[in-house]
Amino acid sequence: MRLKKQRANPLVVVMKKKDMLFYMLRGREVTTRRVCNALKCFGMMKFGRLEPAGYPSILMVEPTNLCNLKCELCPTGQGTLRAPRGSMKLANFKKIIDECGPYLLNLTLWNWGEPFLNRRVYDMIEYAKKRRIFVRVSTNGHLLKDSKNIERVVRSGMDELIFSLDGASRETFMKYRKSGDFEAVMDNLKKLVETKRRMKSRTPFIEIQFIVMRHNEHEIGKIRKLARDMGVDALKLKTVNLDMESAGHEEKNAKYLPKEWKYSRYSKNLNRKDAIPRGCTRLWMSSVVNWDGSVSPCCYDPHRIFDMGNMFSEGGLGRVWNSEKYNALRRAVRKNKQAIVMCRQCPGRLTGLDVE
Ligand SMILES: C[S@@+](CC[C@H](N)C(=O)[O-])C[C@H]1O[C@@H](n2cnc3c(N)ncnc32)[C@H](O)[C@@H]1O
Ligand code: SF4
Repeated sequence: MRLKKQRANPLVVVMKKKDMLFYMLRGREVTTRRVCNALKCFGMMKFGRLEPAGYPSILMVEPTNLCNLKCELCPTGQGTLRAPRGSMKLANFKKIIDECGPYLLNLTLWNWGEPFLNRRVYDMIEYAKKRRIFVRVSTNGHLLKDSKNIERVVRSGMDELIFSLDGASRETFMKYRKSGDFEAVMDNLKKLVETKRRMKSRTPFIEIQFIVMRHNEHEIGKIRKLARDMGVDALKLKTVNLDMESAGHEEKNAKYLPKEWKYSRYSKNLNRKDAIPRGCTRLWMSSVVNWDGSVSPCCYDPHRIFDMGNMFSEGGLGRVWNSEKYNALRRAVRKNKQAIVMCRQCPGRLTGLDVE
C-alpha cells in the first residue's frame, strides 16, 4: 500500500516500490555482471538444469539469531529454535560480501533474530553499501535509538528499513510483540523519519510492516492513519505465518489467524493459497547464510533441517551453492515439493507475502 505524499516536508520524496528500480539504477546497484548472473540462474531454472551456476542474486544474511522480544509465533522469540545461537563476526560478513557482492542484486540483512542486536550491523551495512549493494533490514525497532547510529544508517545509503509494527496502540502491539515497548518503537521511528528529513536523504525507504492477525485486524484503518501521520514511505500489510510444529500450535494458530480470510496466506485446510504448484524459484535465485556461516536453502528452515554446508569451512558460498547436496534438494523439490515440510510453508516464489 502506498501512502499519499507527505505534506510536512516537501523535500522528502515519497518513493514507491516501483521507483526502487530507478533508484538502484541511479545508485549503480544494477551492474552488467549482476544482471548476467541473475539471467544465468533464471535460465538454468527455466531450462531444467540443476546447477544454477554463478551465485545467488538475492542473499539473506543473518547478523544474529538472538532477540530481545518473545513474539509468540517466532521460534527465536519462543526459545524453540533448534539451531545454535550467536552473532556473525564482521570479518566473516566481509568474506561473504567479498565473494558474492559483485553478483548480488539484493542483500537481505536479517533472518531469525533482531539484526540491531549485533553491534557490528552498522559496519556491515556500510561495508555492503560501499560496494553498491542494495541492502534491506527488518527490525522490531527497539534498539535503533541512538542518534549517532540513526545518522550512520541514513548516511550509509541503506536502501530499505522495515519497522515491524503490528499494532496502532500499545495494547494491541503488546499482544504479539511480547516484552516489546510500543512507545519506544514509535519514538525511534519518529527519530529516524526526522533524521532522514534533516539530512535531506532519499534513503532509507522506511516501511511500517503490519502483520495482520486476529487481535489487530480491527486496527488496519488506524495503522494507515498512523503511518501517514508518522511520514513513513509505505505501509505493508503482511499475512501471518503460522506455527505448524511446536507443542500447542493449533491453539496458538487459532488465536492469531485473522477472521477475514482475505488477510490470510492459507486456504481453509491451511495450505498456502499463493504457492506455485511445482518447482521453486528460490532454490535457483536466492540463498541464506546463517550467523555461523552455515547455509540454508530458504528462510522457511529456521531449525536448519536442510543444512547445505558451511561456507566458511567449505571453500565459500559458490562451492556450497553448486554442491551435490544443494542439487539433490533442487532435484527433490522439482520431483515432489509437497513431500517436503519446509516447501509446504513457502510460496516457492521470491515474493508473495503481502495482503495488498
Ligand atoms: C524473524 S523476524 C527478524 C527481524 C526482526 N526481529 C523483526 O521482527 O522485524 C523476520 C520478519 O518476520 C516477521 N514476522 C514475525 N513473526 C511473523 C509471523 N508470525 N508471520 C509473518 N511474519 C512474521 C517480522 O516482522 C520480520 O519482518
Ligand atoms: S522481534 Fe523478530 S526475531 Fe524477535 S521474536 Fe519477534 S519476530 Fe522473532
